[in-house]
Formats: sequence, C-alpha cells, structure tokens
Amino acid sequence: MLILAIETSCDETACAALEVKGTMRRPKFTVRASVIASQIKIHAPFGGVVPTLAARAHVKNLPLVFRKTMRQSGVRLKDIDYIAVTQGPGLVIALVTGINFARGLAYALGKKIIPVNHIAGHILSNWLAPSKAGLHGEHIAFPALHIVVSGGHTELIYMKKMGSYRVIGETRDDAAGEAFDKVSNMLGLGYPGGPVISELARGGDPYAFALPRPMMHSDNYDFSFSGLKTAVLYLLKKQPKIKTTKKLKADVCASFEQAVTDVVTAKTVAAAKEYGVKTLTLSGGVSANAKLRETLKRELKRVLPKVSFLAPDVNLSTDNALMIGVSAFFNKKSAVSWKKIDADAHLSIEQNAQMR
Ligand code: KG4
Ligand code: ZN
Repeated sequence: MLILAIETSCDETACAALEVKGTMRRPKFTVRASVIASQIKIHAPFGGVVPTLAARAHVKNLPLVFRKTMRQSGVRLKDIDYIAVTQGPGLVIALVTGINFARGLAYALGKKIIPVNHIAGHILSNWLAPSKAGLHGEHIAFPALHIVVSGGHTELIYMKKMGSYRVIGETRDDAAGEAFDKVSNMLGLGYPGGPVISELARGGDPYAFALPRPMMHSDNYDFSFSGLKTAVLYLLKKQPKIKTTKKLKADVCASFEQAVTDVVTAKTVAAAKEYGVKTLTLSGGVSANAKLRETLKRELKRVLPKVSFLAPDVNLSTDNALMIGVSAFFNKKSAVSWKKIDADAHLSIEQNAQMR
C-alpha cells in the first residue's frame, strides 16, 4: 500500500510517500520519500509562528514539496492508494491549506483521504524503527504510556490498545516547547528556542540557578510551565548582566532545561508505574532534547526496568509527514471522500475522529 501524506498544522510544510507491507500487527514500512520545507526563517523575526504567514508559505510550498516527494520517491500518481492529511489539532488557517491540497489530489486521483490527528502522528512515529533495510514496524507492547512534548502540547496519554487513547495529564498553561521558545526570546536567542537552549545548556551548570519545578509533586499528572517561565523572567530582571554574560546565559539555559526535564521525568515515570504499562514512548518536538531523552530513559530503567522505552529518531521528533502516513496506515478504516473532510483546530485525541 502506498500512502501519500501531508502535514501543515503549524510551520512545517511536509509531504511523504510511505510504502507499507505486512499486517496491522506487524507492518513493514519503507520510506520512499520525506520532504520538509521549514518556515523558521519566516517566523524567526517575530519570535514565534505568525499564522497568516504560515498559511501563505504552505500555499506556496505545497506544490513544490509534493513534486519533490514524487520525484525522490519514484512513485507515480497512479501508485498512490490513499492520501493522508493532518486534520488537527493545529492552526486552522494552516491546516486548511494541507487539507485543500489533499482534497484536490484525492478528487483528481479518485482516491480517499485518511484524516489524521497530529498528536496521534507524533505518538505513532514510534512505530518506525530504523534498520538497514529501511523502517520496520516496531512491535509495541500494550498497555503503553506516551508523553508528547511539543510546541503546542504537553500530554500524558494512556493507550490500552491500538487506537484507544486516554489523556491522563496535560499542561494547564504553556506547553513545554512553548516555554523553551519564550525563555529563548527573553534571552535574545531567537526562535525556535529548543535547539538553541539545549545547545547552550551543554556549557552551563544545571544547578547554577534554583528554578521552580511546578506541579512536580502534585497528586495528578497535569503540568504547568508558565510559572517556570515567569521565574526566568524575574531572574533576568534581577540580574540583567546574565543577558550579556555568555557563561551566565548558559547557566540559565542549563537550569531551565534541567527544571523541565525533572518535572517531565518525575511525572511520566510515576504515571508509568501507576498504570502498569509495558511501554513508554516519548515524542513531539521537545523529544529532540538529548537531556530529556537520556534522563527519562535512565530514570525509567532505574525505577521500572521491565518497561521498554522508545523515542523516534531525532529527525522524526519535530513535525513531519512520515508520522502522518504511519498514523493513517493504522486508521485506514476511517478513509473518507474528499467532500467529507474539514479542519478541526482543537481535535482531541480522545475523540480520535480518525478512528470512527
Ligand atoms: O512537534 P513540533 O515540531 O511542533 C508542534 O507540533 O508544536 O515541536 C516544536 C517545538 C518547539 O517549541 C521547539 O522549540 C521544540 O519543539 N524543540 C526543542 C528541541 N528541538 C525542538 N525543545 C527542546 N530541545 C530541543 N532540542
Ligand atoms: Zn507537532
């Protein structure tokens, strides 16, 4: 089966051609092509994603990214079995650009569209395990717990079996990636904040500044990062020389990264223990963070050595269309006509529209 997947929920215009063989339980994925047009340069001067500029860039880039995907993959139009597209959550004016492109393609090719939940896409990116022969469906033992940390979401999701998602904790304010981006702006480091903060943090002392660990010991699995961000703001006001001193800046980055890592790790491992899961996965843009990956893996091994840990390849951590293709494969029953799909900016993973 050949799935042509499209992702435009935020600031990456992405398209992928994914070939799938095997069964639902043991799929074998082969990446024929995966193309991403990043909009970082467009949004960087504004310190964050500007929805209208994102939509405009998607409209411009989609045909080019699609053509490149087709050329690289060697796939012919008639080989495409399904079109997969992100339905939500995301920026509505960005989502509709991808959806309309998918509708046009589906109409012209006489194929159906599989609507995909973006968060399910991040989670299911863990089903891709690299090997010499390409990417094979990783066998994941259920029940599983997923921690999704991205620019728009921080969610702990319990999955009893494929397709059943229950949110057991989420952020009450800023998402983890959003906090990275805001702190980066405060430090004058630009957008996106995650990669630059983690790079600088390597040369800093993670315990130089005592930053709060909000909700780390609360008796639920919710998160809150806005207090941590505000603590950094006050710190910078109190000690303005931090912004002009390389070492102090690195110390703030390291202390901030450590605080986020401690909270996410503590809550995730506690939830994995309470829910008795067999697998823990980490995904979303912030999962590219090496400190978080390593700490979570280490702590899980120490507390729950029998639970297996998975995180997608770093280049599959941030938004891409491959994860949308994988998710579509597991949801192919929900394929609809091009006339029957609409964007849903607040699509919930529990509602899981694509699993109808
Ligand atoms: O999943 P994603 O590509 O887009 C959304 O769905 O939101 O995540 C983007 C977020 C941004 O906030 C970015 O700063 C963060 O992921 N990010 C990182 C790293 N790389 C990207 N955060 C921490 N460390 C990183 N290395
Ligand atoms: Zn994302």
